[in-house]
Amino acid sequence: MKNLFFIILLSILIGTIPLFAQNSSESMDQKIEEIIKQLSLKEKLDMCHAQSKFSSKGVPRLGIPEIWMSDGPHGVRAEIAWDDWSHANWTNDSCTAFPALTCLAATFNPELSYKYGKAIGEEARYRKKDILLGPGVNIYRTPLNGRNFEYMGEDPYLASKMVVPYIHGVQENGVAACVKHYVLNNQEHWRDHINVELSDRALYEIYLPAFKAAVQEGNVWSIMGAYNQYRGQYCCHNELLVNKILKRDWEFDGVLVTDWGATHDTKQAALYGLDIEMGTGTDGLTSSSKNAYDNYYLANPLRKMIENGEIDESVVDEKVKRILRLMFRTNMDNSRPFGSMNSQEHFDVAREIAQEGIVLLKNENNFFPIDPETTKTIAVIGENATRMMTIGGGSSELKTIHEISPLEGIQKRFANAKILHAMGYSSGPSAYGRVIPSKLNADSLQSEAIKIAKQADMVLFVGGLNKNHHQDCEGDDRLQFSLPFGQDELLSEILKVNQNTAIVLVSGNAVKMPWISKVKAIAQVWYLGSEAGNAIADILSGDVNPSGKLPFTFPVKLEDNAAHSFGEISYPGDGVNQEYKEDILVGYRWHDTKNIKPLFAFGYGLSYTDFEITNVKTDKKIYQEEDVISITCEIKNTGNLSGKELIQVYVNDVKSSVLRPLKELKGFKKVSLNSGESKSIQIDIPVKDLAFFDDKKMNWKLETGQFKLMIGTSSKNIINTTKIDVE
Ligand code: BGC
Repeated sequence: MKNLFFIILLSILIGTIPLFAQNSSESMDQKIEEIIKQLSLKEKLDMCHAQSKFSSKGVPRLGIPEIWMSDGPHGVRAEIAWDDWSHANWTNDSCTAFPALTCLAATFNPELSYKYGKAIGEEARYRKKDILLGPGVNIYRTPLNGRNFEYMGEDPYLASKMVVPYIHGVQENGVAACVKHYVLNNQEHWRDHINVELSDRALYEIYLPAFKAAVQEGNVWSIMGAYNQYRGQYCCHNELLVNKILKRDWEFDGVLVTDWGATHDTKQAALYGLDIEMGTGTDGLTSSSKNAYDNYYLANPLRKMIENGEIDESVVDEKVKRILRLMFRTNMDNSRPFGSMNSQEHFDVAREIAQEGIVLLKNENNFFPIDPETTKTIAVIGENATRMMTIGGGSSELKTIHEISPLEGIQKRFANAKILHAMGYSSGPSAYGRVIPSKLNADSLQSEAIKIAKQADMVLFVGGLNKNHHQDCEGDDRLQFSLPFGQDELLSEILKVNQNTAIVLVSGNAVKMPWISKVKAIAQVWYLGSEAGNAIADILSGDVNPSGKLPFTFPVKLEDNAAHSFGEISYPGDGVNQEYKEDILVGYRWHDTKNIKPLFAFGYGLSYTDFEITNVKTDKKIYQEEDVISITCEIKNTGNLSGKELIQVYVNDVKSSVLRPLKELKGFKKVSLNSGESKSIQIDIPVKDLAFFDDKKMNWKLETGQFKLMIGTSSKNIINTTKIDVE
């Protein structure tokens, strides 16, 4: 009888019997308070830490469900074993692999970000996940960072604009996005302990904005803390980052989840804002023992501190409140949709994003597009022409239902041509975290490649990086800026026998290009997921006109990059500490302000057609702080093909009391135009966005005076500069 009473009470509370309006936050809070009253301390603590690799406990006696999480951010990861990192070997967990987030960022198209979020959210929901661990918005600070491919580039404005619709798309499915890794996890080397020191300005202007947008505009329901330390405190329990900035200043009402094994102290975890502790070993760190989940910092150790009176139980109630709030938004919201998997619609979304994210870097004498009808023999050379790129890379690895390789895509689209193929070089197979040396003979691979290069009308060299350890992979950084596995040498041999050579660069990072002047064309194609080969062929054949733009700068050499200009203490640090000496001058902000010519600039990317931007105007010349600046212009497609162009607006504070970058992106719009078509475009910039972070007042400050608005098609290609005044 008593049980029946509880079940009825709980049903009312969690909404299966609709007593209160489900979505009103007041009634939700009331329900949460009522539930918390029913829970024992042990039950509450159990909700605050892992019970397996990717889940945390519910309260079975009350029907409160477990929380299930899965890695993203490029697809829903295959099921992992309960207690260790092996695959659970299910047969129904193959997913659609979407393009890497660098590619999404390169689309500069927030609508595609929404489509991405919606589709991956549907897959997560179908797979019964409550939290999708992604997207990542750590800023691209060095091209060596092994995880840049999972992030959205070097610009805080771009990352902010792209992260918000992704979150909306995911969360419409009743699945929480979990934006990671909060914050300053900008390299993989020493990520588990390095202490990052940087100015408040750099923190607020460069590294925090995308997280802030995720919270305030995206209304994200969870955030993952980073492994590293900031000002001597681990990020997952950091008084300043979590309690002050995230939870108080930004009013984040969701759950802070640790990165796996990133908790280090019970008291700090309890008091400095951590809500759910997840782990790599079953002891919360890296090794395993019996009943180990009870040894997590937020399990028995915290229970003891509460029982001893060292910590008040209300601290746990606050965490459980957040967790239950997330659950009312996800697995306790019985109106959430059911999701879907591997639909044609999802493959189409993956392909569309891939097409729009590919960046054409060079195209001498219109090498691309290649005419599928008249081209006779194409030599496709390079390991990446056939290598699966959804495998490896660390936690973003995927078991995809299909992955069209570049070679397959080219073979299919250029069915009338003769396609020759040679691997050319070999990186060796990889197992998670290490590379197994290849037994293939480098000389014979090369001579095979040279042989087919001689026979072909053109060479498509499909190379770059891969998802091996020390490449684009979690756990450590790249060891060199150059292409690995002897690709530069191989290319110079190929170029001796066939100058009609183009590069299809598969990578999530900038690379050194010593052969740049000798190759005819370069397409930066990222990691594109299930539809990779199809999307590449769409661009190479001209079925789709490229419109991707670089979300980060390609430096000529590594030392030209800001983080690498200040020696070891700036990157990778001295093993204990690291100082972001370049301060706010990250990426193009550095190159422009210091006048260091990049190889390819932020925002750059070619098209098969031409555009003309004219008639740039602002609605006024003098603005007040609360105004919005309206910039209008005309854009015309003056070429013969339809295509898309990205109009970018950069701002410069002409005279300032502090150093300001020469250019800062403050607005952009992607426009689709048929051949000959013109459109009028309007881009709005709130005047308050021109402020800088004043570290004396610890607040944003707008200085009056003149500002330059620079309108262009890349950070280097400025077409019009207009001056305005702020009063
Ligand atoms: C990664 C996270 C990931 C987690 C779970 C960690 O090593 O840093 O991004 O979500 O593992 O796989």
